[in-house]
Amino acid sequence: MSAYLVEDNRKVTVPRVKAMKTEGKKIAMLTAYDFTTAGIVDHAGVDIILVGDSAANVMAGYPTTVPISIEEMIVYARSVVRGVQRALVVCDMPFGTYQVSAEDGVRNAVRIMQATGADAVKMEGGESIVPTVRRIIATGIPVMGHLGLTPQSINSFGTYGVRARSQSEADRLLEDARLLEEAGCFAIVVEKIPAELTSKLVDRLSIPIIGIGGGPADGQVLVIDDLLGKNTSFSPKFLRRYADLNTIMTNAIGNYVSDVKSGDFPNEQEHY
Ligand code: KIV
Repeated sequence: MSAYLVEDNRKVTVPRVKAMKTEGKKIAMLTAYDFTTAGIVDHAGVDIILVGDSAANVMAGYPTTVPISIEEMIVYARSVVRGVQRALVVCDMPFGTYQVSAEDGVRNAVRIMQATGADAVKMEGGESIVPTVRRIIATGIPVMGHLGLTPQSINSFGTYGVRARSQSEADRLLEDARLLEEAGCFAIVVEKIPAELTSKLVDRLSIPIIGIGGGPADGQVLVIDDLLGKNTSFSPKFLRRYADLNTIMTNAIGNYVSDVKSGDFPNEQEHY
């Protein structure tokens, strides 16, 4: 039996997420992409469900997050929203939907909110997206930032290695985080950065810092397929696997195949 703890069954809102930092309550965030899984994640007490563009990798099988379209993200996010009662649902804005112009960004953020019923959007990047972030927030849409390893820029980075190890990159990231907070972001995800830098961000910013491969922070986020051990080929240092679904699913499906082939399934109780 899990030891999850839901202190409060009220719907998680953006002001409540911000208050969790001041109250010293850690934020548990996890991805989901479909109705059934979202219901389980919500019931287990996760505070924020991210419909991440990691759906590109784990749902659609693209090699990076670059190809996923807004239409695909809308289908995943809609399904998640239908399965959730308590958690705040955040939908990633996919690559190309906010980098062209602020107008384009606002139009696409509005489309995502209207078509999915999500509570907020997440966007990757620092100073260069601040004018767009401001416009989206002014429209009434809460924005979560994302700094450090920003997978939509993989073609510029070249690798998925740790970011902001150098002093100049760390200083840039601290300034980007400050600008995102000033622009009105309600939280920032930091991916694959040194723990010392995350700690500085936690101390300097009044909004929650949510880490993935960034060490201790105001909250943590993982990709659900990684946490559940569905994908055995992805084993970064920061990942803690809470289950071995790959083995459980392979064994269960293998047993089903054997039972069908042997004629054991269906038996007399399993038909009309
Ligand atoms: O797309 C995603 O799942 C994410 C998380 C890794 C933070 O952005």
